[in-house]
Amino acid sequence: MRHDDPLRVVLALLVLVATAALLWWAGVAAGVVALVLAGGCGLFWLGRGAHAPPSLPANAAPAVADPADALIAAITEPILIIADERVTNANAAALALLGAHIVGEHARLAIRHPEAADRLTAPLAALPGAPVSLVGIGTREARWEMQVGALDDGRRLVHLSDRTGSHAAERMRVDFVANASHELRTPLAAILGFVETLADDKAGADPPTRRRFLKVMDDEARRMGRLVDDLMSLSRIEADKFRAPESPVDLARLVEEVRATLAASHGNRGRDLTVVIAEAPPPVVGDVGQLSQLLHNLVGNAMKYGKPGTPVTIALAPGPDGMVRLTVADEGEGIAAEHLPRLTERFYRVDSGRSRALGGTGLGLAIVKHIVERHRGRLDIASMPGAGTTVTVLLPALSSNCHENITQGA
Ligand SMILES: Nc1ncnc2c1ncn2[C@@H]1O[C@H](COP(=O)(O)OP(=O)(O)OP(=O)(O)O)[C@@H](O)[C@H]1O
Ligand SMILES: [Mg+2]
Repeated sequence: MRHDDPLRVVLALLVLVATAALLWWAGVAAGVVALVLAGGCGLFWLGRGAHAPPSLPANAAPAVADPADALIAAITEPILIIADERVTNANAAALALLGAHIVGEHARLAIRHPEAADRLTAPLAALPGAPVSLVGIGTREARWEMQVGALDDGRRLVHLSDRTGSHAAERMRVDFVANASHELRTPLAAILGFVETLADDKAGADPPTRRRFLKVMDDEARRMGRLVDDLMSLSRIEADKFRAPESPVDLARLVEEVRATLAASHGNRGRDLTVVIAEAPPPVVGDVGQLSQLLHNLVGNAMKYGKPGTPVTIALAPGPDGMVRLTVADEGEGIAAEHLPRLTERFYRVDSGRSRALGGTGLGLAIVKHIVERHRGRLDIASMPGAGTTVTVLLPALSSNCHENITQGA
């Protein structure tokens, strides 16, 4: 019996039942005629089906699976096999990237990219050749590297590797070197200009001018020093990022120390600093030097960018998931929403002129972000233009067991 015979039986029975219903309902001779006709047709159809030749010869072998399919299915990156310029096999990653329709398609249509087309149809002897870089396959920013190799049977194996992440990292590295050089070159150019003027006997002889120039040179040299210090601490923190800090740090004490230092060095603005500690927080697991740097950067920003005479509040409170919450809030002019996601990028400033005039390197928040990441903490910056900014840092508290051991051992 053919595989569709049960379907035919069901359909014939349905026709018979429908006609019988019509007969019962209408009670007319037409129903009898319809029953006879439908029954006859159904049985004829059934009989025809039973004797119809099978669609496959009885001795046909089942289709043989291509062993290459199993092989490429195990690879997570997109792989295609091409024979006579047509795609014959594609793994799941290739179908997801290029579309489910590519099997059977011409290679040029499957990977619609001018750089790819030449390599896909190049003579086998020219393969593999250098990897081909493809931009914009899948998404507009995506970058793929395509390699084509020749198989023993003359087919071509096409391998696509995702290079989007490494390309972005390379871009960041290049941008960083360019930005750092620019930041260093600006004060250096100022210093060289003033040295030249002072070296001129006429211009450099006047004592007040000389003093003014020397002051500018001193400021610029110090700015360069700060920049180099910040760059070095950033690279040290990054180098340590996989080594979590282990020492217990009393954050309440550290906050008080930082407050006292900044209050002493900032005159009137120093008096705007307020510390609020809801209840004595447990110690956090940390690196005391880095946490002190984090506090200096955050409180320093709040003092610089907040309005003089308005409070800068440093608060400590229990946070979620056994963490300690540190917040630094100011009542300055705030930061517009579009800048918030970029504030922790190196050298990103909302107002470059103002930041530079205040002696900023634009690395403060990048350093804060890396310190928080190294401490397995969380950082959030919320701001309301015209009202002020609140930076929240959550840091893992030392677990209560460790805390007891350390207190007893101390
Ligand atoms: N509390 C704040 N209120 C308003 N703007 C802020 C605040 N904190 C940071 N910003 C903005 O974010 C930018 C980046 O801050 P970041 O601390 O990284 O650099 P900086 O303060 O300019 O330089 P540095 O920290 O080296 O002194 C600042 O230039 C400023 O525009
Ligand atoms: Mg800063």
